[in-house]
Amino acid sequence: MPLQKILLCLDPDPQPSTFDTIVAIDAGVDQVLRHGGVDPSQVRGLVHGAMFTRGGVQLCRTALFIGGSDVAASERLLEMAQACFFGSVRVSLMLDPSGANTTAAAAVVAASRHVPLGPETTALVLGATGPVGERVVRLLAAEGVRLRVVSRRLTRASAICERIAQRASHATLLTAHTMEPGGMETLLDGAQLVVAAGAAGVELLAASDRKAARSLVVAIDLNAVPPAGIAGIEPQDQGLIREGHACYGALGVGRLKMKIHHGAIASLFTTNDLVLDAEEIYALGKELA
Ligand SMILES: NC(=O)c1ccc[n+]([C@@H]2O[C@H](COP(=O)([O-])OP(=O)(O)OC[C@H]3O[C@@H](n4cnc5c(N)ncnc54)[C@H](OP(=O)(O)O)[C@@H]3O)[C@@H](O)[C@H]2O)c1
Repeated sequence: MPLQKILLCLDPDPQPSTFDTIVAIDAGVDQVLRHGGVDPSQVRGLVHGAMFTRGGVQLCRTALFIGGSDVAASERLLEMAQACFFGSVRVSLMLDPSGANTTAAAAVVAASRHVPLGPETTALVLGATGPVGERVVRLLAAEGVRLRVVSRRLTRASAICERIAQRASHATLLTAHTMEPGGMETLLDGAQLVVAAGAAGVELLAASDRKAARSLVVAIDLNAVPPAGIAGIEPQDQGLIREGHACYGALGVGRLKMKIHHGAIASLFTTNDLVLDAEEIYALGKELA
């Protein structure tokens, strides 16, 4: 009889995420071991328990998931977990704090249905400094898309551009912008794609500005909490054409996000050496779409 699939969930938040737990169970995991309030000093012991219990080919029946709402803290746990591995003695792991990797992957896959992802496309990312927005920028930049990175503060938008440019030679693709009153027309001018990744319940783009954007092909709003991040887009929109733009709302993207999240969890149990961060989850999303 095959060993049960065990997912060890490490979360820096005091309470481990119920969302991540339910998705894991729905993705076919037999046992979810949840640890909240995990700090880096505790990772070694927890990961060793997962590495040393099942040997050889059975190692792929145990995997690790790192969630949480503080992305930097979650990334630190990922680093610590990877540092525990040696040779083939390792388990597959996935990082998805705030659902940022799976959500960003779904948004970019949705965009790719309507615009080529390359230098011929210019994208505007609103709320680009949050966990989701930063990853949307990161994935689009890696595809060679020209990006306008938008924050309420130029220093924050510039910091994102610098961070992503350091990852690869994306510097020429990225420009930092702020949201000035009445400035949306200029920001949207020549853009084919807009992704609104602002905080829940905050409108970032007025319906009139979107409707007036002549170059726009696709508009994606990731905010599920009213009011919409892009006014006039309904949460369940899934490529619905409104005023000539393919529109996606948070629930429309969310369906694909859930498919990607399920697929990523399932893939963890196919081998013991996966590390699923934004790029790997996006690659999986392209296959699943
Ligand atoms: N559809 C799905 O499946 C799914 C899954 C996960 C998350 N989400 C949604 O995706 C969105 C992004 O998530 P996140 O965690 O990255 O968001 P977040 O960190 O809460 O916010 C993103 C950015 O929004 C900007 N912002 C915050 N308050 C604002 C305000 N009052 N006015 C204008 N801008 C404001 C901030 O940028 P600046 O301070 O730099 O301006 C912030 O960095 C959220 O709406 C979230 O609910 C959707």
